[in-house]
Amino acid sequence: MVRKNSCIFISGKGSNLNNLIKKSRNYNFPINIKLVVSNDEKAYGINFAKLNSIPFIIINTKKNNYEIELLRILKRHKISLICLAGYMKILSKNFLSQYKKMVINIHPSLLPKFKGLNTFARVLKNNEKKTGCTVHIVNEKLDSGNIIVKKSFFIESNDDEESLKKKTQKLEYQAFPEAIIRIYRNH
Ligand code: GRF
Repeated sequence: MVRKNSCIFISGKGSNLNNLIKKSRNYNFPINIKLVVSNDEKAYGINFAKLNSIPFIIINTKKNNYEIELLRILKRHKISLICLAGYMKILSKNFLSQYKKMVINIHPSLLPKFKGLNTFARVLKNNEKKTGCTVHIVNEKLDSGNIIVKKSFFIESNDDEESLKKKTQKLEYQAFPEAIIRIYRNH
């Protein structure tokens, strides 16, 4: 199997990045992580790139045309799949058109419910019975592209935002790799 070159975009902690790095040590996993992109030089997740000798770049999203430069770097690394793992910036329509259906995102709710930020507080306020995470294809609309994998759990009466986050992230570590495997099963 020829593994596809992949790039992970982060903005913060990077626990999903770390999980994907571990999964990709298995030669049967369909991607090789060739590059990490962060829009924040202080993102803790950069450490996982450093520890694993994966090249990383910090992008300045305030700079005009930063996406053009970024696209050039991605092409240079022959990246065919982009995984957004806690990346907090919006990618333009032009950028996405260059990576048609090959930009995926992980979101901490059962989409289409609770798009956007502060999902756990809204889930609790709404008295939901279940919550979880969703991996989906990124399109121009926020958290709206086709769903690849969704995983859920039942909310318990003593759950708070913190415990929901913990339980959701545990599921994310299964859902993201599963979605990647599913994408390449059809290729
Ligand atoms: C995840 O919970 C993901 O659902 C959301 O951002 C969080 C990133 O966490 N989009 P981490 O940086 O991977 O630890």
